[in-house]
Parts: sequence; C-alpha cells; structure tokens
Amino acid sequence: MAKLAILASGSGSNFEALTVALRGSCHEVCLLLCDRPGAMVLERAARLEVPARLISYKGRPKNEAESELAELLEENGADLIALAGFMRLLGPELVRRFRGRLVNIHPSLLPAWPGTHSIERAFAAGDNELGVTVHLVDEGMDTGPILAQARVPRQGDLAATEAAIHATEHLLYSDVIINLLNNIAEKTC
Ligand code: GRF
Repeated sequence: MAKLAILASGSGSNFEALTVALRGSCHEVCLLLCDRPGAMVLERAARLEVPARLISYKGRPKNEAESELAELLEENGADLIALAGFMRLLGPELVRRFRGRLVNIHPSLLPAWPGTHSIERAFAAGDNELGVTVHLVDEGMDTGPILAQARVPRQGDLAATEAAIHATEHLLYSDVIINLLNNIAEKTC
C-alpha cells in the first residue's frame, strides 16, 4: 500500500476521481490539503471521508505556510503528492524537499498553453486538438518532465470541450497516479 496526498484549491473533481479510483486499489488518499476556505473540494472530502486540512496563506510569509504544508505531508506519510487544481506555484524549497514525488495535471497539451484559462485560450485560438498533460512538478509554471498526455478533439462549443477535457483528466490522472503508487509499493493491486 502507498499513500497519496492531494493539494487542491477549487471544485475538486480530480480529487474525487482520484479518491474513488484509489478505493478500487490497495492504495489510499491519506490527506487533502486545501488553501481556500469554502472551496468545494472540502465538501467533497467530508462526503468521501478523506482527512482534510486547510492551510492558510493569509497574513504570513509563503514559506511559513509551505513549511506547515510539508510537515503535514510528512506526518501523514505521503509517498506521492498530486496537485489537482492547486492554484499556487510551489516554492523552490518545497519542490526540492519532495522532488520526484510531486505530480500535477494540466488541461492542455503542454508545452502549449501553460498557466491559467488554458482551455479557453486554446479554444479561442481555434485549436482543433486540445488535451491533458500529467507531469512532474519542478520550480517553473507547468514546466516539469511530462509523464503522460491525452488528446481531446475540439467539440462544438467551449462548454462541451471543457467537459470532454475534464472527463479525460479524471481517467488519465487516476491511471498515472495508480501506476506511480504501484511502483512505490512495488506491487500492482
Ligand atoms: C483541472 O482542469 C486541472 O487540470 C487544473 O485545474 C483544474 C482543477 O479542476 N490544474 P478540479 O478542481 O479538479 O475540478
């Protein structure tokens, strides 16, 4: 068994997909860390009975918040850390401490469209082929080594394209994360 911690700021549909997928394996989501009070991901964690902690970044230096975050990851025995819509760039110290164990999902075919609003920007630019990337986290914004990508064809409108991309994210992220956890645990389950 290996343990996954998830960092998220918003709706948490990837958090939910990962949690449900891991329940069909021998691995577990040991912790959700969220930086936004009231985020929907906290409601999902309560419903799915995943331990959750709010990390406040307000009114204190970023590296203090990140030390708290790092300590919680270690105390909870996280083997792997999945960013799932965590809307902050991790500081270099945190990246160094967990290098190779931090994974992110991004809704574009990186290196195209890094940063925010990627789907809207790709759609507005007329891209016919959009997609999803899972990558290791480094010090940059959506720049780390790519682990997997999936292509998603443009749909009739933006909302349908976003829905197709999110559905693809849920499948691809679960697949990649379970493979990484299997490698960490040195067994397939
Ligand atoms: C996803 O599109 C993910 O790729 C990006 O942020 C979004 C999070 O969505 N990094 P959700 O909170 O998992 O629903």
